[in-house]
Amino acid sequence: MKRRYLVAGNWKMHGSLSANAALLDALCARAAEFPAVELLVCPPAVYLESVQRRLAGTPWQLGAQNLSEQTEPGAHTGEILGRMLAEFGCRYVIVGHSERRALYGEDDARVARKFAAAQHSGLRPILCVGETLEQREAGQTEAVLARQLDAVLAHCGIAAFERAVIAYEPVWAIGTGRNATPEQAQAAHAFLRGRLAEKDAKLSNSIRLLYGGSVKADNAQALFAGADVDGGLVGGASLKADEFLAICAAAQRLSE
Ligand code: 13P
Repeated sequence: MKRRYLVAGNWKMHGSLSANAALLDALCARAAEFPAVELLVCPPAVYLESVQRRLAGTPWQLGAQNLSEQTEPGAHTGEILGRMLAEFGCRYVIVGHSERRALYGEDDARVARKFAAAQHSGLRPILCVGETLEQREAGQTEAVLARQLDAVLAHCGIAAFERAVIAYEPVWAIGTGRNATPEQAQAAHAFLRGRLAEKDAKLSNSIRLLYGGSVKADNAQALFAGADVDGGLVGGASLKADEFLAICAAAQRLSE
């Protein structure tokens, strides 16, 4: 049996109190149409409290986009402790998104520490991995995925993946409108699952692997149909209610 689909919206640095209210009203109004799907939104941290309030009592879950690698409070101006995110109802946190790796200097070691910090606070990390176009064209896709995954495995151990999700997000597909083909996504997911299976076959079979990168209403079903694709991490399309709900509907259809 296939794993339960997870559809997650990564709002990135978008939103306003009024725009969030309209989007969440629309998402909540139709949440009952996707009983088989786990539903998640990841707003900017300043909105967590208001989004938590709006989502209370609905099937929508809350996640954050980033957290500090620290596990205790301290003098870290501008950083947010995992425990604080948990206090505001977050169940998941995105770790190692390519934008954080490329624009904010997060290397594999820091990503691994953030993965550990998330778990320290009872949050489920959504670990993002993915190759650049240059790396893909040089035939390095699997080597890059292996390196990014192995850094976390080495730091946290395979058991830590019991309560984690992995998102395969090819950098060249993020925000470009050029999604990976279903075959490319499935191949990368199969590679990641196989690598985890070398450590723990049972865990590798149960962990969810999301695809991210220009997921839209019109490609979600084909992408999610891959045997090793367990949902999506959606950027731009998660800000448009109709588009995001159509992506949730694709996951629901595949679950029936
Ligand atoms: P887009 O869906 O806008 O391509 O973004 C994907 C992404 O980075 C999700 O984390």
